[in-house]
Amino acid sequence: MEIKNITVLGSGIMGHGIAQVSAMSGYNVVLRDIEQKFLDKAMEKIKWSLDKLVSKEKISQSQAEQIYSRIKPVIDLKEAVKDCQLVIEAVPEIMDLKRKVYDELDKVASNDIIFASNTSTLPITEIANTTSRPNRVIGIHFFNPPQLMKLVEVIPGMQTSSEIVEKTVEFVRSVKKEPVLCKKDVPGFIVNRLFIPLVHEACYVMDRQKNQLTAIDSAVKFKLGFPMGIFELADFTGMDVIHKATVEMHQR
Ligand SMILES: NC(=O)c1ccc[n+]([C@@H]2O[C@H](COP(=O)([O-])OP(=O)(O)OC[C@H]3O[C@@H](n4cnc5c(N)ncnc54)[C@H](O)[C@@H]3O)[C@@H](O)[C@H]2O)c1
Repeated sequence: MEIKNITVLGSGIMGHGIAQVSAMSGYNVVLRDIEQKFLDKAMEKIKWSLDKLVSKEKISQSQAEQIYSRIKPVIDLKEAVKDCQLVIEAVPEIMDLKRKVYDELDKVASNDIIFASNTSTLPITEIANTTSRPNRVIGIHFFNPPQLMKLVEVIPGMQTSSEIVEKTVEFVRSVKKEPVLCKKDVPGFIVNRLFIPLVHEACYVMDRQKNQLTAIDSAVKFKLGFPMGIFELADFTGMDVIHKATVEMHQR
């Protein structure tokens, strides 16, 4: 099975970026959300990003138009998945919500579709077990913003077939990203297993040692050589996103 058509579920921070990156590599993309206003906003952001690439002369105007026309915003789930070979789920990091989304998806998606979750922290095996096809479920963790960040963690669940792992790695390379295979399906995988505790520790250092946030960020940037301070990165990621990830990781 060759991947040509992709459906992205959720058109928020990550979903719209993943849709754009996929369309830029020639895939036909359906972008699905629950309300038209979210899709309108996502398409606006994609247009803004493509216009910026045109102004920087990275792509031509006609390429930008072709890329944009390859992304179709859709609300109806059944219609959204009818022709795709790969679904990338990017709905909020709340297990109960993901469970609901996979339940609906399982009922309408054909059996040969790959289900890939962009979850930052939730074990893939846990998500996979909510479906009737755990062998076709995998983690595909893009970073924010997907348009710029090179790394993608690929996380097989306990039952993910080797064919699905290979296809997913191949897909990640085809969108010009660098895949890292996470051998153990633990909450947070590799990056967030390190990053979330780092944010907590930075908060403790601020609170207990009475250090200023800017002092901690300076130490991290100018001594440890991080491209951004920890608080700067946490702010960029979104405190709501970090909070949800913390709660889900802590529960496990
Ligand atoms: N924000 C980040 O920095 C970041 C980075 C990497 C991974 N992630 C992960 O990506 C996923 C999405 O995060 P986000 O930051 O893009 O969230 P977001 O809140 O920006 O976007 C989520 C979108 O999903 C939509 N949605 C809700 N229910 C839906 C449904 N049933 N079907 C389709 N769409 C639905 C919402 O309307 C919203 O537009 C999460 O699992 C998160 O952990 C986030």
